[in-house]
Amino acid sequence: MKKKINIDALEVGMYMEADVREATKGKAATPDSAKNVLLLGSGVLITSETQIRRLKEAGLNDVTIDTSKGKDSDAGVAVQQPVAVPQERRKKSLPGGRKVEYKEELKKARATKEVVKNQLKEALGDIAIGGSMDRKKLDAGAKLITTSVLNNVDAMVGLTRLKEHDPYTANHCINVTIITLAVALADGIDEETAQILATATLLHDIGKTKVPLEVLNKPGRFEPHELNEMRKHTTYGRDVLYDMPGVTEEMMLIATQHHEMLNGKGYPNNLMGDEIHRFGQMTAIADVYDALTSARVYKPAMPPHFALGRIYQNKNIEFNGDLVDLFVKTLGLYPVGSLVQLDTNEVGVVAEPNPDNFRQPKVGCFITRYKKFRQFPYLVDLANDPQENRKIVKVLNPSKYKIDVDKMIKMCTG
Ligand SMILES: [Fe+2]
Ligand SMILES: [Fe+2]
Repeated sequence: MKKKINIDALEVGMYMEADVREATKGKAATPDSAKNVLLLGSGVLITSETQIRRLKEAGLNDVTIDTSKGKDSDAGVAVQQPVAVPQERRKKSLPGGRKVEYKEELKKARATKEVVKNQLKEALGDIAIGGSMDRKKLDAGAKLITTSVLNNVDAMVGLTRLKEHDPYTANHCINVTIITLAVALADGIDEETAQILATATLLHDIGKTKVPLEVLNKPGRFEPHELNEMRKHTTYGRDVLYDMPGVTEEMMLIATQHHEMLNGKGYPNNLMGDEIHRFGQMTAIADVYDALTSARVYKPAMPPHFALGRIYQNKNIEFNGDLVDLFVKTLGLYPVGSLVQLDTNEVGVVAEPNPDNFRQPKVGCFITRYKKFRQFPYLVDLANDPQENRKIVKVLNPSKYKIDVDKMIKMCTG
């Protein structure tokens, strides 16, 4: 009989089923150059404690033993023989509202974001020097993003954790567009309106093209007069758009209202509650979230889980309560990139969300339960962990760990 047991129950005399490999470590090693070293071959009788120690050090949690060929164990459960599934049933069902599988869309979404970012940088640069906007290009970019979000919202939303500081904050504008779109779709807008909203949100900070570059690109904190100038980007936005052909009402609203707050403490017009258009309210949440999770010279990036908490605390104060709920539902309790500790003391990065259960994302672990650091993370699917049923117990601050979160995510998602 084949049995799956915890590594702690493995003893000399047991017969292990699968082969076990560990990626080589070393300064020059990269995910591509990593070679696998065979720790134990397939179908091996455990003959020494050293073999068991090496397996534990490799971060292995469970092993399968064959009790017909070696010693039995009181621990563990019998492994069910796989039952043949008809071809048509093999295709994994996708979570609600997702048309394409996460990993599949992620690859396309990365390329899409890059293309749209370069187009937007160019368009905003042209406007800054008094040129006109290439409306066709903008619409095409908005369409690419909308299509990707409609295919699999989690893939594009996951990419918003990639930050980059460019002169007219094109990357920020795309991140805000993705999150606003995701919230709006959860709010029930149709695909046609989504496209209009995406085009408008891409331009939400268009007024920054009229802010003097020495203020816009100041690395440190703003002096009061500089802050005042910076805040004028909302009215500058309205002025820039006013003169442009083909401008929609949504563009004007979002450019002007995305810094207004529900309690009237926003700018430029101290609008309150419903005086702010629902699209303006959505953009305000997305804008603050992207700003909080971005690093600046004078402040480190706030980890996504904590930024989410900050926005939640301001539910019905600064932000529309219903929209905050949709926003949290969209990003999940532990957004991609969150550093988490499991109840086994393993530490990892949330690499893939689970829209069916926010508490059970896929986590790329790089610290094992034996406190051993792994250069190459191993993926733990919390929704599919029947042996251990591991849980997230704590969210950690990545600044205390010398890891490249984005690299970890890429290693886990391919
Ligand atoms: Fe803004
Ligand atoms: Fe913004």
